[in-house]
Amino acid sequence: MFNNIITSDQFNKSDVSYICTMATHIRKIAKTKEGLLFLKSVLPHKRAMLYFDQPSTRTFLSFYSACQILGMNIAEVRDINTSSELKGESPEDSIRTLSSYFDLIIIRSKDKDFPKRMANLFLNIERTIPIINAGSGSAEHPTQALLDIYTLLRSFENTGGITGKNIMFVGDLKRSRTVKSLSKLLTLYYDVHQTFVAPKQLQATDEILQFSDKISYTLSEDFESQLKKADAIYMTRIQSEWDTNGESSKIDISKFCLNKHHLNLLKKDAVVMHPLPRRNEIGTEIDRDPRAMYWRQVRNGMWIRVALIAILFSVDVKILKYTYNNS
Ligand code: CP
Repeated sequence: MFNNIITSDQFNKSDVSYICTMATHIRKIAKTKEGLLFLKSVLPHKRAMLYFDQPSTRTFLSFYSACQILGMNIAEVRDINTSSELKGESPEDSIRTLSSYFDLIIIRSKDKDFPKRMANLFLNIERTIPIINAGSGSAEHPTQALLDIYTLLRSFENTGGITGKNIMFVGDLKRSRTVKSLSKLLTLYYDVHQTFVAPKQLQATDEILQFSDKISYTLSEDFESQLKKADAIYMTRIQSEWDTNGESSKIDISKFCLNKHHLNLLKKDAVVMHPLPRRNEIGTEIDRDPRAMYWRQVRNGMWIRVALIAILFSVDVKILKYTYNNS
């Protein structure tokens, strides 16, 4: 189905559907000890490298757990200052070196093109291994987008699916890679309206709106009036790590935060999402509301990542057979 995972627009709708179906099968298999032992027997002969040059909690640890679930051996580079890059080695040479020792490299990079460059490099050399983009620059986070779609599909199971829904993005839409990747994946679904709510300095740019021929959308600064119309509210934090001169501190985001006073404005079937980490854009008092889905996103992320690794190594059919033999 795919040799690398680099960008969310590499997937068509049937790919996404298959990945989500695999995640559900794996999630159910993992509910029993026998199932977990089966999953652990699937890839014990494979080794994964997690190469992260930016901080991460969820993506790093959910990939780490996903590899463990499939019985893989794992190693990590989380601080390039402990690698020979400190001596001047290029990141490209680092990854090429790692490809001699591992069967899969999962990359988080501040460079938006780095995972793609590495995947292209491996097209032209003898030893080629899969690359997974675990977040690149402010441009792409394809596995987050897949787990977000999985969360939306599960949340809207009884309300007609994603078709026809109004998905509202809030916060730093200019620099959020999760928003860009999810916005692209949503174009696969019929009749979805995307609403972008942000202070004007952080509003969605052409990186998203270039797909305007494929999407119906609204740009707004009016959080409360748009909130009432949304089926999903996807909150994001200010991405101040991309500031060049402390510009985030000059932006008032107080009108773009969700707190308990907003709960009675939300539709009763709406869902509240956030890729996390959060700052103060969602009050912790929202966590107890049944419409809060962000902790489910965290869990869904691990199952989606197990499914992706299984598909990359073509062991998905083995997992499907286990499901059918044990149902
Ligand atoms: N959502 C997400 O990418 O979180 P981390 O930065 O903690 O991996």
